Amino acid sequence: MSALCESKTRDETGGQDASDTEESASLTKSEVLPEASKDMESKGSKGTQSRKHKLSPDRERASKIAKQDVDADVSSASTSVPSDLTTSGSNERKSDTSDVKTVTDNTVLVADHYNALEEKGLSQRNKSRIVYMRNFNNWIKSMLINEYIVKVKQGKSYGASLRVLDMCCGKGGDLLKWKKANISHLICADIAQVSLEQCQQRYNDMVNGKASNRGYAPIYTAEFITADCTKVRLREKFKDPSMQLDFVNCQFAFHYSFESLPQAECMLRNASESLRPGGYFIGTIPDAYDLVSRWQKCDGNKFGNDVFSIEFLCEDKTEAPLFGAKYNFHLDGVVDCPEFLVYLPTLRKLALKHGLEMVMFERFDAFYERYKNEGRSLLGNMQALETYPPYHETPLLGDPERDYQHAVQYMQNLPANHRKIGTLSQSEWEVTSLYAVFAFQKMKTIWNSEGKPEYVKS
Ligand SMILES: C[S@@+](CC[C@H](N)C(=O)[O-])C[C@H]1O[C@@H](n2cnc3c(N)ncnc32)[C@H](O)[C@@H]1O
Repeated sequence: MSALCESKTRDETGGQDASDTEESASLTKSEVLPEASKDMESKGSKGTQSRKHKLSPDRERASKIAKQDVDADVSSASTSVPSDLTTSGSNERKSDTSDVKTVTDNTVLVADHYNALEEKGLSQRNKSRIVYMRNFNNWIKSMLINEYIVKVKQGKSYGASLRVLDMCCGKGGDLLKWKKANISHLICADIAQVSLEQCQQRYNDMVNGKASNRGYAPIYTAEFITADCTKVRLREKFKDPSMQLDFVNCQFAFHYSFESLPQAECMLRNASESLRPGGYFIGTIPDAYDLVSRWQKCDGNKFGNDVFSIEFLCEDKTEAPLFGAKYNFHLDGVVDCPEFLVYLPTLRKLALKHGLEMVMFERFDAFYERYKNEGRSLLGNMQALETYPPYHETPLLGDPERDYQHAVQYMQNLPANHRKIGTLSQSEWEVTSLYAVFAFQKMKTIWNSEGKPEYVKS
């Protein structure tokens, strides 16, 4: 993918924290990103089995098969709403690869991993090998949140309240985005108590004016819930359980719920139950098609580069279960835990069952293409791209020989006086290009004669 837009480099902002610098000034440059993965069409498997992913790259066929599988899975799933799905007895359905014990183990692993992650200061974060990729991901989140906040606001009168649930909020990297969006109330939920405490501290610092205020409206009110969003009914934990929200956010985390059908259902139900009709549920997840395509192409079950690795723990490269299709994801000092494939037709179908209609699913490269002009100055302000060739005092973070060939080629076609461009190293792009953004809209609920909810477009 090639792209022209504007950016600013790290040295131009004095190394500020990108997540806190969305409103600083920007300079103009050209940018280029490495080619997007076009390799999702590999040849492969034959035959299907009930309740398995068809991992053939033939997407349409695969999606038809998965649709039948999902129909069976979803229709046999429970519609009752226990508060805690770990003890849901008859509601519990075993997925192909996970029983109740492994389900528990994995969520504990994930919580322990995030709890143990050190809160790195600004200077440490800026030294990270993947600082530009993290900033780029942050830019994607900002643009996505902005796109749907604008839609939500369109249906509201000026000054009306705007309430948000951030599921799996982490240490609160998005707190400033909510401030910019001028929301009135935020509910933060995460399984990792230490992360949530850091999130609350950051929020308190914002309220007390320690963090940059930069002229925004008074800060929203907030509440913090330590909970496993895949097992606990969040609405019961809200300070006001009758509250209707406009927006649910779940960034880089929804895939943890695809460990089992009950967990995926619980997460979707949490999103759905929180939203008013017309509200939006948005987020970012790895694209299962791309993950599987790369897995099928590698020798063995492990692939990656110097900044990330993924090791699949499923037996068969051509078939994986709809739930519990597990891989270990390691990312340079940031993530090191089990994750699960989220098969798009399954997600779409399951969400619909909970009154959430998918309105957008877009790979990061396509989303970037769509927003690179509108998000030009923010891309620069957030230092989301690395300068190539580098300034003398700022060496490239990637391998100069291997990681910037796309930039070298791109520059060959630029006018001679065009000396610098912004880019991501090949290694970073290989990670971030795995991801996709999604958005669902909450449908209107009507109650049928049996007292069960049915959903219609709002
Ligand atoms: C990659 S971090 C993303 C954090 C934040 N959303 C962001 O974009 O900066 C994933 C987060 O999901 C949380 N998480 C994972 N599984 C969870 C679960 N079952 N329930 C609640 N939070 C969970 C982790 O504790 C971690 O904070």
